[in-house]
Amino acid sequence: MSAFEMFHDMIVAQKPKARTLKNGPTFYRNLERRLDNRRKKDRLYVLKTPRNVVDFSSNDVLSLSTSGLLRMAFYEELAKYPKFVVGSCGSRLLDGNNTYINNLEKEIAQFHNATDGVIFSSGYDANVSLFEVFPGPKDAIVYDELVHASIHDGMRNTKATIRRSFSHNNVDSFRAVLQELHDSEEVFRSGERTVIVSTESIYSMDGTIAPLTEMVRVADEVFPTRNVEFIVDEAHSTGMLGKNGRGLVCALGLEDRIAIRLHTCGKGLGCNGATVVGNETIRTMLINYAHGLIYTTAPSFPTLAAIRAAYTLIRSDFCEERRLRLQTLVRHFYRKMFDHPSFTIAKEAGILDLPSGLNFEGKEFVSQIVPVWTRNEDNHQLAANMQYADYNAWPIDFPVVPRDQGRVRLVFHTDNTIDEIDGLVEIIIQWAEEKMEYMKDRTHWKRQLILKEKL
Ligand SMILES: Cc1ncc(COP(=O)(O)O)c(C=O)c1O
Repeated sequence: MSAFEMFHDMIVAQKPKARTLKNGPTFYRNLERRLDNRRKKDRLYVLKTPRNVVDFSSNDVLSLSTSGLLRMAFYEELAKYPKFVVGSCGSRLLDGNNTYINNLEKEIAQFHNATDGVIFSSGYDANVSLFEVFPGPKDAIVYDELVHASIHDGMRNTKATIRRSFSHNNVDSFRAVLQELHDSEEVFRSGERTVIVSTESIYSMDGTIAPLTEMVRVADEVFPTRNVEFIVDEAHSTGMLGKNGRGLVCALGLEDRIAIRLHTCGKGLGCNGATVVGNETIRTMLINYAHGLIYTTAPSFPTLAAIRAAYTLIRSDFCEERRLRLQTLVRHFYRKMFDHPSFTIAKEAGILDLPSGLNFEGKEFVSQIVPVWTRNEDNHQLAANMQYADYNAWPIDFPVVPRDQGRVRLVFHTDNTIDEIDGLVEIIIQWAEEKMEYMKDRTHWKRQLILKEKL
């Protein structure tokens, strides 16, 4: 039995069964009923423990955490403060504030060419706060349809009166939404209220990069009153894009035009936490209004020391080499896939696809996130084939990505090897070839049955 057949059978056999409780307290019966909804749709999340396999999945893209490099830098940072107090002992507004976090925020802000910063416990908390704090009543939020779930959660709590989405990375659609707001609402036309634009720099599930320069130009054309402001989520570009990984806004020289940037620490930096960078007004607003900062314990010293260690690393020439190596690896993957004759056939058969307009050759930056699109549910089969060969990558489905856009999300890392990438290509191609054979067989038997019925 091939890996393909084995996992096809396994996936069918693994479908979780409904387990609605007949007896017991109402509370648990109702909860199990809700979980059954997920079980029925095959969407029950379970926590998996990644085995020690080849990593084409984690967000540790520069391999700073998994290689132990960050651990060494972290120990060095800790050694400078032998008497450190582990816990922050309170909210930032009470006992949780200290010189270390204040200085670190300043350092991070300056690294990203901003004046001020505020550290949050996570990027999720930061996004929820940003959309709660900054759009005021009568303001509008205009957002890319693919922005992260944390932004949607933030927008649920927002005071903005109007929310409009535009098609992913589509400047024409963006312009049309802005124009409609301009033409229909006097408060925006007159410059009295603000339109806040939400975008990511590198999109987490697609690896696409926002056309930020064009978006800024369009915003200023439609609103010469200059009342459009941007919040850019730099989660996947931090440590990756621009000089020393300062992010997309710095790479494009747009620091003076983008009001707020979010630099999370859980991706390229290899630790956790996040910093919002902007100017003094932005910082003061967050300190005064962000519930995700006020009503929570401030980050502990080890968390902050890890963030500082990670910034020390990404500033180094050594990390610049790690970024370049990662670029070489991603390009190698695309080249191997595009050059393989079976890829073209599988693509034409609608079995497999990769970002097509990528034109990676000659491009200064190629995203480390690569979606491998398949037909519905095939992404589970493909991922299972990878996992069978000890390569870790996960299938991604709705609602994380739009309906009918299931994929295996590949993430490349500096410490992946060329051999591992060649192996990965081989698994993908072999799966596609077997899938094509299987489909051919099925068509053959279907045709035989129809003929038999006709006779
Ligand atoms: C685009 C984007 N923004 C925000 C977040 C949340 O960041 P964190 O993991 O630090 O909570 C993520 C993480 O998945 C992300 O991909």
